[in-house]
Amino acid sequence: MRFASSALLAVVSAGVALGAQHPFTAYDEGLFTPLGDLGLLSTSEFTTLAHPAFPNHNVRVKQSQFCDGGVNAYTGYIDVEARHLFFYFFESRRDPETDDVMFWTNGGPGASSTMGLFMELGPCRVTSSNSTKMNPYSWNEHANVFFVDQPVGVGYSYAEYGESVGTTKDAAADIAAFMVIFFEHFAKFKGRALHLAGESYGGRYIPVFASAIYDKNKELVEAGLTPVNLSSIMIGNGCTDFGTMFPSYYDAQCQDPTFPMIHDISTCVRMKEMVPRCQKRFKESCEDKMDAIDCAAASSFCSDAFNGPFGDKNHYDRARPCKGAASITECYPIVQHTVEFLSSEATQDLLGVDPAVRGNFTHSSRTVSQAFRDNLDHWAFPAQHYISALLERGVRTLIYVGATDYICNWIGNERMTLALEWSGQEEFRSKPLSVWGWDVGEVSGLTRSGGGLTYATIAGAGHMAPYDKPRESLVMANRWLAAESL
Ligand SMILES: *[C@@H]1O[C@H](CO)[C@@H](O)[C@H](O)[C@H]1NC(C)=O
Ligand SMILES: *[C@@H]1O[C@H](CO)[C@@H](O)[C@H](O)[C@H]1NC(C)=O
Ligand SMILES: *[C@@H]1O[C@H](CO)[C@@H](O)[C@H](O)[C@H]1NC(C)=O
Repeated sequence: MRFASSALLAVVSAGVALGAQHPFTAYDEGLFTPLGDLGLLSTSEFTTLAHPAFPNHNVRVKQSQFCDGGVNAYTGYIDVEARHLFFYFFESRRDPETDDVMFWTNGGPGASSTMGLFMELGPCRVTSSNSTKMNPYSWNEHANVFFVDQPVGVGYSYAEYGESVGTTKDAAADIAAFMVIFFEHFAKFKGRALHLAGESYGGRYIPVFASAIYDKNKELVEAGLTPVNLSSIMIGNGCTDFGTMFPSYYDAQCQDPTFPMIHDISTCVRMKEMVPRCQKRFKESCEDKMDAIDCAAASSFCSDAFNGPFGDKNHYDRARPCKGAASITECYPIVQHTVEFLSSEATQDLLGVDPAVRGNFTHSSRTVSQAFRDNLDHWAFPAQHYISALLERGVRTLIYVGATDYICNWIGNERMTLALEWSGQEEFRSKPLSVWGWDVGEVSGLTRSGGGLTYATIAGAGHMAPYDKPRESLVMANRWLAAESL
């Protein structure tokens, strides 16, 4: 969720990423008994699950009945060697036996997915440091939903021996292993359609995670394992491609017909002059040459040119003024409540949090964020190409955007969708924008759909769209899961 744009990057050093490999071994299916009845899991102690195909990986899981009240809920760790990824898993309110599975991550990089869980689309919202209330618009209405704190170093997820993950590609290796191991153990979900969803920097994570899962399937089939049934990706207010997002900051401030003009003409003209310069420098340094130092300088140039004038207005929502991106807890007090809730010993006992990460909870890890910056992960790979490749392989893609967001705004996202290159591009581009509504006669936003790709705005919502417009967001998600048009 937290995607700081001011000081987009201050420090640059070409860090060396850890190459993460998760080999697995062929095994005799007859020798392995997956977990059948989840209802047999303890509520107080973790049950450790091992799998012969994944000798270096374990799942520790317990029942943690909280938050929803009506459905089975589980928490635990997937241990990928010395890395421990914390997850929450809520079964579907409708039918856990047949509904699809969804994975959710927030962005940052470094933001905890508990923001999505307890503020946006999870089964409950935190109301104070020791209470929650049920969310009637939770996305587990029609799906079995995961919330995963990733990469390691975020939330309750951690790595032993000070290992860290500082690139999306390394994070993807852990998530691909996570999903395979989950489906192998939780047999009742095996083969079930999977949707990967995320927000903000998740617009960069999700296409890469989905691709890693897709590519891994070939190995799984060769080893006699069941492939992961990757069905779609869903990106909310994503900052997927800065090549299109940077120039959109000019439009969002000076030329968005849906938003009041905030600047003098002279300021807007100065920014307009920067658009071609930024585009040229970004393309040369980040896309063509991919030179670390030049790319950082180009990105810094673009950021100063466009985000400087925006100042400390609320980067997440042009319609809801507050004290700027730096103080998200002041703009959204629920974030502070969530931090207090997750810092409490009672909550940590309930969830089974490991001793290594007990104590005060951090909603956004500066260490992880800095590691991604140091590795130039923000700029140096074109996440949109992964979307094209997924579309080409039949993985449906939803790009939705709360329309009053500034930092990953609709203008940049719409441009990104129109520029995606795959065999469905012409069909998509030929479609006009049309109105969609959560109910007959309602106007919830605009949408365009074709070739497996859907772009949609959510009117009146900011960066955390399901927080601002929960009903509209849920209707959209449910129609998407059912493969209906918006
Ligand atoms: C919850 O917190 C409030 C104030 O923060 C306190 O008055 C109340 O006793 C607490 N309730 C429980 C069950 O701990
Ligand atoms: C994958 O999910 C889709 C959509 O739910 C379903 O139609 C299909 O049968 C599933 N594929 C497998 C191999 O289970
Ligand atoms: C944890 O947070 C509380 C409340 O904000 C603070 O008083 C305490 O010093 C913090 N503990 C640590 C170890 O940082």
